[in-house]
Amino acid sequence: MDAKHLNQTQTVESTSLEERLLDLVARKDLSTLGHSNRVATLTREWAEFMSSRGLWIGVSPARIGSAARMHDVGKVMVPDSVLLKAGPLDALERELMNAHAEAGYEMVRDRDVSGYSAMAVRHHHERWDGQGYPLGLQGEEIPFQAQVVSIVDAFDAMTEDRVYRKGRSPEEALAEIERCAGSHFSPARVAEFVQFIHARNG
Ligand SMILES: [Fe+2]
Repeated sequence: MDAKHLNQTQTVESTSLEERLLDLVARKDLSTLGHSNRVATLTREWAEFMSSRGLWIGVSPARIGSAARMHDVGKVMVPDSVLLKAGPLDALERELMNAHAEAGYEMVRDRDVSGYSAMAVRHHHERWDGQGYPLGLQGEEIPFQAQVVSIVDAFDAMTEDRVYRKGRSPEEALAEIERCAGSHFSPARVAEFVQFIHARNG
Protein backbone atom coordinates (compact mmCIF):
# COMPACT_ATOMS: atom_id res chain seq x y z
CA MET A 1 0.00 0.00 0.00
CA ASP A 2 1.47 3.41 -0.89
CA ALA A 3 1.75 6.17 1.71
CA LYS A 4 -1.16 8.19 0.31
CA HIS A 5 -3.47 5.20 0.28
CA LEU A 6 -2.39 4.21 3.79
CA ASN A 7 -3.11 7.74 5.01
CA GLN A 8 -6.57 7.69 3.46
CA THR A 9 -7.27 4.28 4.98
CA GLN A 10 -6.16 5.52 8.41
CA THR A 11 -8.37 8.60 8.13
CA VAL A 12 -11.44 6.58 7.19
CA GLU A 13 -10.75 4.05 9.93
CA SER A 14 -10.21 6.68 12.59
CA THR A 15 -13.32 8.63 11.52
CA SER A 16 -15.59 5.61 11.81
CA LEU A 17 -13.92 4.57 15.09
CA GLU A 18 -14.39 8.08 16.45
CA GLU A 19 -18.08 8.16 15.48
CA ARG A 20 -18.79 4.74 16.98
CA LEU A 21 -17.02 5.56 20.22
CA LEU A 22 -18.70 8.96 20.54
CA ASP A 23 -22.04 7.24 20.00
CA LEU A 24 -21.29 5.12 23.08
CA VAL A 25 -20.40 8.27 25.04
CA ALA A 26 -23.67 9.91 23.93
CA ARG A 27 -25.67 6.98 25.28
CA LYS A 28 -23.81 7.05 28.59
CA ASP A 29 -23.49 10.71 29.55
CA LEU A 30 -24.41 13.79 27.52
CA SER A 31 -22.23 16.04 29.64
CA THR A 32 -19.12 13.98 28.74
CA LEU A 33 -20.22 14.16 25.09
CA GLY A 34 -20.45 17.97 25.23
CA HIS A 35 -17.09 18.19 26.98
CA SER A 36 -15.47 15.88 24.38
CA ASN A 37 -16.81 17.91 21.47
CA ARG A 38 -15.69 21.23 22.98
CA VAL A 39 -12.22 19.87 23.76
CA ALA A 40 -11.97 18.58 20.19
CA THR A 41 -12.95 21.93 18.67
CA LEU A 42 -10.62 23.99 20.86
CA THR A 43 -7.73 21.56 20.28
CA ARG A 44 -8.22 21.72 16.52
CA GLU A 45 -8.40 25.53 16.60
CA TRP A 46 -5.25 25.69 18.72
CA ALA A 47 -3.41 23.45 16.24
CA GLU A 48 -4.66 25.59 13.34
CA PHE A 49 -3.40 28.71 15.13
CA MET A 50 0.04 27.17 15.70
CA SER A 51 0.20 25.93 12.13
CA SER A 52 -0.71 29.41 10.80
CA ARG A 53 2.41 30.68 12.61
CA GLY A 54 4.61 28.00 11.07
CA LEU A 55 4.79 26.04 14.34
CA TRP A 56 3.79 22.51 15.31
CA ILE A 57 5.13 21.30 11.96
CA GLY A 58 3.68 17.90 11.13
CA VAL A 59 0.77 18.22 13.56
CA SER A 60 -2.51 17.81 11.68
CA PRO A 61 -5.30 19.90 13.27
CA ALA A 62 -7.91 17.35 12.14
CA ARG A 63 -5.95 14.44 13.54
CA ILE A 64 -5.21 15.96 16.93
CA GLY A 65 -8.82 17.22 17.10
CA SER A 66 -10.04 13.68 16.50
CA ALA A 67 -7.73 12.31 19.19
CA ALA A 68 -9.03 15.00 21.56
CA ARG A 69 -12.64 14.05 20.81
CA MET A 70 -11.95 10.48 21.97
CA HIS A 71 -9.93 11.37 25.08
CA ASP A 72 -12.61 10.49 27.65
CA VAL A 73 -14.21 7.56 25.83
CA GLY A 74 -13.14 5.22 28.65
CA LYS A 75 -15.72 6.94 30.86
CA VAL A 76 -18.33 4.63 29.32
CA MET A 77 -16.75 1.94 31.54
CA VAL A 78 -17.14 4.00 34.75
CA PRO A 79 -20.24 3.13 36.85
CA ASP A 80 -22.99 5.78 36.65
CA SER A 81 -22.96 6.12 40.46
CA VAL A 82 -19.38 7.42 40.15
CA LEU A 83 -19.47 9.19 36.79
CA LEU A 84 -22.64 11.14 37.57
CA LYS A 85 -21.97 11.80 41.27
CA ALA A 86 -22.36 15.48 42.03
CA GLY A 87 -20.19 15.61 45.16
CA PRO A 88 -16.53 14.73 45.77
CA LEU A 89 -15.39 11.15 45.13
CA ASP A 90 -14.02 8.87 47.86
CA ALA A 91 -10.78 6.92 47.32
CA LEU A 92 -12.41 3.88 45.68
CA GLU A 93 -14.64 6.03 43.49
CA ARG A 94 -11.59 8.08 42.45
CA GLU A 95 -9.80 4.86 41.48
CA LEU A 96 -12.78 3.76 39.36
CA MET A 97 -12.92 7.18 37.71
CA ASN A 98 -9.17 7.28 37.01
CA ALA A 99 -9.38 3.87 35.32
CA HIS A 100 -11.07 5.63 32.36
CA ALA A 101 -7.70 6.54 30.82
CA GLU A 102 -6.50 2.95 30.54
CA ALA A 103 -10.00 1.66 29.67
CA GLY A 104 -10.25 4.17 26.83
CA TYR A 105 -6.82 3.19 25.58
CA GLU A 106 -7.91 -0.44 25.43
CA MET A 107 -11.01 0.55 23.45
CA VAL A 108 -9.05 2.58 20.92
CA ARG A 109 -5.68 0.87 20.50
CA ASP A 110 -6.60 -2.11 18.35
CA ARG A 111 -8.38 0.04 15.76
CA ASP A 112 -5.95 2.95 15.79
CA VAL A 113 -3.28 1.87 13.31
CA SER A 114 -0.75 4.58 14.17
CA GLY A 115 -1.47 4.65 17.92
CA TYR A 116 -1.71 8.46 17.74
CA SER A 117 -5.18 8.78 19.28
CA ALA A 118 -4.61 5.84 21.61
CA MET A 119 -1.64 7.70 23.15
CA ALA A 120 -3.74 10.84 23.69
CA VAL A 121 -6.47 8.77 25.35
CA ARG A 122 -4.09 6.86 27.60
CA HIS A 123 -1.90 9.75 28.73
CA HIS A 124 -4.18 12.79 28.99
CA HIS A 125 -4.00 12.65 32.81
CA GLU A 126 -0.23 12.36 33.08
CA ARG A 127 1.43 15.34 34.78
CA TRP A 128 4.64 17.09 33.76
CA ASP A 129 6.12 16.36 37.22
CA GLY A 130 5.34 12.63 36.93
CA GLN A 131 2.54 12.69 39.53
CA GLY A 132 -0.25 11.88 37.07
CA TYR A 133 -1.75 8.61 35.87
CA PRO A 134 -1.94 5.91 34.58
CA LEU A 135 1.83 5.45 34.13
CA GLY A 136 3.35 8.46 35.90
CA LEU A 137 5.18 9.57 32.76
CA GLN A 138 7.24 12.73 33.21
CA GLY A 139 8.10 15.72 31.00
CA GLU A 140 8.74 14.91 27.36
CA GLU A 141 8.01 11.23 28.00
CA ILE A 142 4.39 12.35 27.72
CA PRO A 143 3.30 12.15 24.07
CA PHE A 144 2.86 15.59 22.47
CA GLN A 145 -0.83 15.03 21.71
CA ALA A 146 -1.48 14.15 25.36
CA GLN A 147 0.38 17.29 26.54
CA VAL A 148 -1.96 19.32 24.36
CA VAL A 149 -5.20 17.56 25.23
CA SER A 150 -4.54 17.71 28.99
CA ILE A 151 -4.42 21.51 28.88
CA VAL A 152 -7.57 21.90 26.79
CA ASP A 153 -9.30 19.29 28.96
CA ALA A 154 -8.49 21.25 32.14
CA PHE A 155 -9.48 24.57 30.55
CA ASP A 156 -12.88 23.22 29.49
CA ALA A 157 -13.49 21.48 32.83
CA MET A 158 -12.78 24.72 34.71
CA THR A 159 -14.92 26.97 32.51
CA GLU A 160 -17.89 24.61 32.26
CA ASP A 161 -20.97 25.27 34.40
CA ARG A 162 -21.92 22.33 36.59
CA VAL A 163 -25.20 21.71 38.38
CA TYR A 164 -23.53 22.49 41.70
CA ARG A 165 -21.19 25.30 40.66
CA LYS A 166 -20.77 28.03 38.09
CA GLY A 167 -17.79 27.68 35.76
CA ARG A 168 -14.79 29.99 36.14
CA SER A 169 -14.19 32.75 33.62
CA PRO A 170 -11.72 31.98 30.79
CA GLU A 171 -9.27 34.47 32.37
CA GLU A 172 -9.43 32.68 35.73
CA ALA A 173 -9.01 29.27 34.09
CA LEU A 174 -6.05 30.52 32.06
CA ALA A 175 -4.40 31.93 35.19
CA GLU A 176 -4.82 28.56 36.92
CA ILE A 177 -3.28 26.75 33.94
CA GLU A 178 -0.33 29.16 33.99
CA ARG A 179 0.07 28.51 37.71
CA CYS A 180 0.29 24.77 36.96
CA ALA A 181 2.94 25.07 34.20
CA GLY A 182 5.83 22.81 35.16
CA SER A 183 3.78 20.84 37.70
CA HIS A 184 0.70 19.63 35.82
CA PHE A 185 1.49 20.86 32.33
CA SER A 186 4.34 21.32 29.86
CA PRO A 187 5.63 24.90 30.30
CA ALA A 188 6.14 25.23 26.52
CA ARG A 189 2.60 24.07 25.73
CA VAL A 190 1.15 26.39 28.39
CA ALA A 191 2.95 29.39 26.88
CA GLU A 192 1.55 28.46 23.45
CA PHE A 193 -1.95 27.97 24.83
CA VAL A 194 -1.88 31.37 26.51
CA GLN A 195 -0.88 33.00 23.20
CA PHE A 196 -3.64 31.14 21.41
CA ILE A 197 -6.39 32.07 23.88
CA HIS A 198 -5.29 35.71 23.93
CA ALA A 199 -5.30 35.85 20.12
CA ARG A 200 -8.67 34.10 20.00
CA ASN A 201 -10.24 36.48 22.50
CA GLY A 202 -8.25 39.34 20.93
FE1 LIG B 1 -10.21 12.31 31.33
